[in-house]
Amino acid sequence: MRKESLPSIIAPQQRARWKNDRDGIWTLDGAFLDAIPTRSILTTLWDQPRWLEAYHLYDQRGSELFEQICELPEYYLTRTENSILEAEAATIIAAAPVECIVELGAGYSKKTIHLLTEQLRQRHKGIFAPIDVSRSGLLASRDALKRDFPRLEFHGLHARYEEGFTSIDQAVPTLFVFLGSTIGNFNHSELPRFFKNFSQAMGPDDYLLLGADRLKDVAVLEKAYDDSQGLTAQFILNVFIHINRLLDSNFNTEKMRYHAQFNSEWQQIEMYAVAAETHEVHFPNVETSFNWKRDERILVEISRKFDSLRLQEQLRFFDLTPVDHFTDPDEWFSVLLFKKQC
Ligand code: AVJ
Repeated sequence: MRKESLPSIIAPQQRARWKNDRDGIWTLDGAFLDAIPTRSILTTLWDQPRWLEAYHLYDQRGSELFEQICELPEYYLTRTENSILEAEAATIIAAAPVECIVELGAGYSKKTIHLLTEQLRQRHKGIFAPIDVSRSGLLASRDALKRDFPRLEFHGLHARYEEGFTSIDQAVPTLFVFLGSTIGNFNHSELPRFFKNFSQAMGPDDYLLLGADRLKDVAVLEKAYDDSQGLTAQFILNVFIHINRLLDSNFNTEKMRYHAQFNSEWQQIEMYAVAAETHEVHFPNVETSFNWKRDERILVEISRKFDSLRLQEQLRFFDLTPVDHFTDPDEWFSVLLFKKQC
């Protein structure tokens, strides 16, 4: 393989951290990285209630299952956000004069195509740098984009969001794109921490395009997270298969069931794995185990639902100024454009 040079959008003081992985894909250098998911899993599993950080859901199988969820009739989020982006991409790109589009948690980058099309139409060039923990998602998006957008410069960053966005050069005018209501995965301490660090990493000419799912009828919300085909259940329980692989543990998906409910005080869907019978879960690598009691729940994922005006107000306190607000006719989903306030 030809040795690729580091993309110009990586900040000078961050360049030593990155190395080429595959053609067009970059990854963080350093053996220490492998320890991080393991530590995250163990610390939250020994918390009360036991819970998991959402990024563990996206192994290869998890990413595939999520793509299938996006096609479900009950799962309105992807469809609705996509229709907003399709209708508003020209306005969004005109409002954000950037050279580079960085997408956090891109997956297969399907919805972003509207923005990339407009960037190339309006500016005749552009850089696209998706950041994702799923390598398969990055590879699929690379192959599709190389084919459909030959004029686009593509750099996939295989990393967690924070490792990715802190590496982007502040001097390059960038539109950060954070779609799908992925912010809904952040709990009440993770969300402010995320926006504090994110805003700090932004340059003076940067923008943020944020997709946020809104509050709505509880029955609609609960159906979207407990579909009749059982795909969401498979997606949530698959995290334990992934954890078994990482930690050599013996979670048994036959001894658990899926349960989703809307918590109205916290305005979030909570997705649980519930022990169908009491059983012992072993972690041989760290020589420990826990007794997972019948009916005890592990909170695998939350999906918070937002009041979009309140969210806009809240993000002002992180130096993000609202520029525009797009929604669908039912006002089920919001796409919010912010500019970094300097
Ligand atoms: C990718 C976090 C936006 O919360 O709707 C879908 C993940 N989990 N069904 C969401 C998910 C179960 C999804 N996000």
